[in-house]
Amino acid sequence: MSILTLRDKSSLFEQRAIWRAEGKRVALVPTMGALHEGHLSLVHQAKQQADVVLATVFVNPRQFGPTEDFSRYPRDEEGDILKLHAAGAAGVYLPTVKEMYPEPFRTVVYVKALGDDLCGAHRPGFFDGVCTVVAKLLLQVLPEVAFFGEKDYQQLQVIRQMVRDLDIPVEVRAGMTVREPSGLALSSRNAYLTTEERAIAEQMNKVLHRAATSILEQRMDVAAACDWGMKQLLQMGFQKVDYFALRDAETLNPVLDVSRPARLLTAAFLGQTRLIDNIAVNP
Ligand code: PAJ
Repeated sequence: MSILTLRDKSSLFEQRAIWRAEGKRVALVPTMGALHEGHLSLVHQAKQQADVVLATVFVNPRQFGPTEDFSRYPRDEEGDILKLHAAGAAGVYLPTVKEMYPEPFRTVVYVKALGDDLCGAHRPGFFDGVCTVVAKLLLQVLPEVAFFGEKDYQQLQVIRQMVRDLDIPVEVRAGMTVREPSGLALSSRNAYLTTEERAIAEQMNKVLHRAATSILEQRMDVAAACDWGMKQLLQMGFQKVDYFALRDAETLNPVLDVSRPARLLTAAFLGQTRLIDNIAVNP
């Protein structure tokens, strides 16, 4: 069977009604395209949990700052459709910006505190853009379950909070970060990296692991380990480190020890490219 390609809200609603009438359990996998195995692992996981998987491909202008990479963000619609078909998605929704945000568009979904911290502190408005588009997609599709990657750990927690706060009737599931053998987390933005930058990027996950081990083995306290991690990334060749921080795995509040599940998160620049990664640090 071929994959359904839906391009406007009315065909999306029609298809959703058909699935509902057939009693199908629907899983949603939102993406911005330029798909890689990280995205596809969410589709595979979604297939296990639902009768039909609907992926969305939409490069959301509202989550890019004025100086960020919206216009040059990698786009490969044809490749994405082929990959989603091969992964067994039943459909893909590819709306235009006009379809998603008909003028005048005035509503923003803002998650207090959680959305202003870490990435939100360095990319003002980023999580408002993410939440607004994810809320719209969830309400348009009303899937039984929706999948998000741990690669974007803060995003996952912000979306969970939003879904809870707004009573959106969907179960949010997380997919583990898919990595290259070097440990580098797969990301559409890795396509921007030169060969030299890629070698530096591969150090990010290693530094996270070394810092986590130092904390767990109590060779360094949390502040010292995070400071070490930040300096290490700079020494490896990253030009700017936005943060290197240990947080509670659920609330993302700062923590000073690992008495509960925690998460070590970092964001750093290689040239114009901003990379993020995180790992679990469990007691
Ligand atoms: P995008 O970066 O395309 O990612 C889409 C989904 O794939 C997200 O849930 C992300 O966490 C997950 N993902 C990305 N890289 C991954 C990896 N290496 N392993 C596992 N999962 C991975 O995140 C977004 O798009 C957008 O913000 C979006 C949620 C679609 C809203 O516009």
